[in-house]
Amino acid sequence: MHEITKDMEVLQQAIVRYSVERMRMDPPEIDAPMTPEQLTAMAGQTITDKGLGGLEALRLFTDVLAPACISTDHPKFLAFVPAAPTEASTLFDLIVGASSICGSSWLESAGATFAENQALRWIADLAGFGPNAGGAFVSGGTAGNLSALVAARHQWRRGKPDLEPLRGLVISSKGAHASIKQATYVMDVDLLEVGGDRLTGQDVEEAMVGLSEIDRKRLFAVACTAGTTNLGVIDDMQGIGAVSHVHDVWMHVDGAYGGAGLAAPSVREAFNGIELAHSFIVDPHKWLFAPFDCCALIYQNPRLAREAHQQQGAYLEVVYDGVWNVSDYAHHLSRRARGLPLWFSLATHGTEAYADAVEQTLAVAQETAVRIERHPDLELVTEQNLSICVFRRKGWNSEDYAKWSDHQLDTGQSFVTPTKHNGETVLRFCIVNPRTTVQHIEEILASL
Ligand SMILES: Cc1ncc(COP(=O)(O)O)c(C=O)c1O
Repeated sequence: MHEITKDMEVLQQAIVRYSVERMRMDPPEIDAPMTPEQLTAMAGQTITDKGLGGLEALRLFTDVLAPACISTDHPKFLAFVPAAPTEASTLFDLIVGASSICGSSWLESAGATFAENQALRWIADLAGFGPNAGGAFVSGGTAGNLSALVAARHQWRRGKPDLEPLRGLVISSKGAHASIKQATYVMDVDLLEVGGDRLTGQDVEEAMVGLSEIDRKRLFAVACTAGTTNLGVIDDMQGIGAVSHVHDVWMHVDGAYGGAGLAAPSVREAFNGIELAHSFIVDPHKWLFAPFDCCALIYQNPRLAREAHQQQGAYLEVVYDGVWNVSDYAHHLSRRARGLPLWFSLATHGTEAYADAVEQTLAVAQETAVRIERHPDLELVTEQNLSICVFRRKGWNSEDYAKWSDHQLDTGQSFVTPTKHNGETVLRFCIVNPRTTVQHIEEILASL
């Protein structure tokens, strides 16, 4: 298995050929899920005593398994938060896979860490974080939010033994992503959701004033959102930052989706106040054109995160005095150097290309809102925020939306899923792919 044989050379070429052909598909097939029964019938038992051979396993992937996975980079994939990795980042992902780098410690991965840290620095500068800011690339926003809140809890209890028996409390908003709630569940702390679609400093202030003395003691973080998943709303980070600082509570910003807007001059102002945060995340695998899985987690004061996250063990002592051990800044140890595809693409194209690409998707989202307003049967449910448009088809109920959405996917046209706003089923476009054009949008709108 570990020798380069003739068969392996043939397989190498087949895999590189497939990868290049997949990257050249413009657009790729959108594809659709299949049932376990269909997949069993088509793929059969793939793990056998003697193995199928590489070419047969590859054929099963290309002919059966890949078509049962939706292509998130299709220009008409507008559900959830799509993906749109650059060619350079996808290519470099192959190198990351081939290079067997364990991106945990400076000892093992100084070069990779140096490059990842330059990419993190670019993001930290966009947010106006100070010169000591730093962090780690983790698998996704869910992991980033959890790690940031663990660091926040550490800071809250640090040097205060009287807080040890107290269960922590986090304030967040109704619009916050589900991963904030999940993080509080994993940490076994309480969550107080306040505010409306946009969390303001006043909401947070009022919530704090309303807390009992003991609950006020339990409060260790305010988690706000820069670009909510459903509506694209950016919370009032200036106001929340001011309140958090007055009350000495950790401010975390979840910019997993919207944080990419920091790179776009046309919307940068809406993020003012983010520089007051103690930590923030943005997922390059969403709107910063990197392949899965990649979340940038950045702290103003990484030392606090290191105290919370560093794993202790005799076998690890040898790495402790490394210049920068990425494993110290999140809930992880062994890790893929997953920031490298973003770094390579940034190094290749320069940061201006990123600003242009984010601006382009914003412009398409704005044009989309105009076309929705013009459409006789459609209306926007909220104003268009960042690159998200939420709208209703007049006269439709939830079954109509589901039927339309299923038909679009079954016929390979688009992937757009319904969501809910104030209990009403509506449609939502999230545009992060620079390959998504106004014409693509018009084609979808024409089917409604
Ligand atoms: C605002 C926000 N936070 C967190 C997440 C979770 O990110 P991930 O799916 O990478 O864990 C998402 C995902 O869409 C998101 O939009």
